[in-house]
Amino acid sequence: MNLPLTGPTEPLLDRIADALVERGYLILQDALDSALTQALFRRIQQLDEAHFQRAGVGREQDLHLNSTVRRDQIRWLEYDDAAESAYLDWMTRLREGLNRRLFMGLFDYECHFAHYAPGAFYKRHLDAFRGKTNRLLTTVFYLNADWQPSNGGELLIYPEQGEEALERVMPRAGTLVIFLSDRFPHEVLPARADRYSIAGWFRVNASINNQIDPPR
Ligand code: OGA
Ligand code: MN
Repeated sequence: MNLPLTGPTEPLLDRIADALVERGYLILQDALDSALTQALFRRIQQLDEAHFQRAGVGREQDLHLNSTVRRDQIRWLEYDDAAESAYLDWMTRLREGLNRRLFMGLFDYECHFAHYAPGAFYKRHLDAFRGKTNRLLTTVFYLNADWQPSNGGELLIYPEQGEEALERVMPRAGTLVIFLSDRFPHEVLPARADRYSIAGWFRVNASINNQIDPPR
């Protein structure tokens, strides 16, 4: 597969940095080269069930509690596949661009594919708790070609205080959402079709005894 070497352009980096300073989040359509978006969609569909694991909640090991909070299946991205590697490279360039502009001290990035089978959801949650984690910035990228409103599965983004959603995002191929991990509670409404996304986190280096928190 010949994937173009991609990364956010300088004007796009400016736009992302400005939005993070002004509002703390942004939603971009057609964020990546469409060939890469399609390659990632093929990749996740080709990985069969056996490659995925039930997603957990923090350090919680209780499967029953887990499944009342989230029902997605995940698989971490690796560099040994061309499409996965191109996505990770794009995020490296985003990390470097944001560090240059905002001095955020983003240290690394990790991300996983997520498959929400019909009926799956992720209840309202925060990805990080102030001072308790090294997750600073969340990214969610959607891979679903031809997603219909009747398929549900929207991402709702809430303000720090308040019950009314700021944004309702359809998980359409090419849409990238970026937000400060400890500021925006969010949830995934039940999907009515197979829903594919890549959720990721930029982290600062807060390791103690070489233990990077949170563990996978
Ligand atoms: C997560 C998450 C949102 C989505 O994995 O923490 O909130 O739309 N995912 O897939
Ligand atoms: Mn989340």
